[in-house]
Amino acid sequence: MIVSKSYNELSSTVADMVETQIKEHSPSKLGLPTGSTPLGMYEELVNRKLDWSNTITFNLDVYLMNINHPESYQSYMRKNLFDRTNIYPNHYHFPFRPFSAFEDKIAGSMGIDLCILGIGTNGHIAFNEPGSSFQSRTRVVELSEQTIKDNSRFFDSIDEVPTQAITMGLGTIMEAKKIILMARGQSKLNILNVAMNGEVTEDVPASILQNHDNVEVLYCE
Ligand code: GLP
Repeated sequence: MIVSKSYNELSSTVADMVETQIKEHSPSKLGLPTGSTPLGMYEELVNRKLDWSNTITFNLDVYLMNINHPESYQSYMRKNLFDRTNIYPNHYHFPFRPFSAFEDKIAGSMGIDLCILGIGTNGHIAFNEPGSSFQSRTRVVELSEQTIKDNSRFFDSIDEVPTQAITMGLGTIMEAKKIILMARGQSKLNILNVAMNGEVTEDVPASILQNHDNVEVLYCE
């Protein structure tokens, strides 16, 4: 695990990895996260004014909700990255139905080169909650009580937090050639330790990353 001295350092280290990927490989296919942790990385990437014309992206997950709601992940991505770069609108993808077509789209682009992940306090990655099958593919999921509580800070009240989402599966994520897991704050330390050093179990979805041979974990307080 790489421990960064500050959130700025964490954000710029991951932005460096993304920059290298998209400059050195054309086309580059990225798996992209949401949540509060990657916001600094997106800001950094936007400020670098990179050429995104040969980059294709696949978001990891979306809430099942009105996509025009300000807290939808579609709104989040447009606001924090897509509308601020020259990425082609037909080059970014959110999980869509039929899910087999979304999976085919990823496979048809020869797979994700670099997938960036966050981690939930219960060990979820994307919206693969505890108990998700390690073989799972893109599907609709019920959000856990813990996740709804954690994510209620983005909404006016907990009742407004969607209870369902569409997520890439753990099987889908594990096919990415390289994975970066970003985590920020003391509240993530315990679950990071359990996921990276504990038993590999479906009870801790992020523990599946121990089975991937190209994962980097970056943390800051
Ligand atoms: C949400 C997202 C996850 C993300 C997690 C952590 O639940 N679906 O993909 O990893 O939040 O978010 P944060 O970075 O805000 O702690």
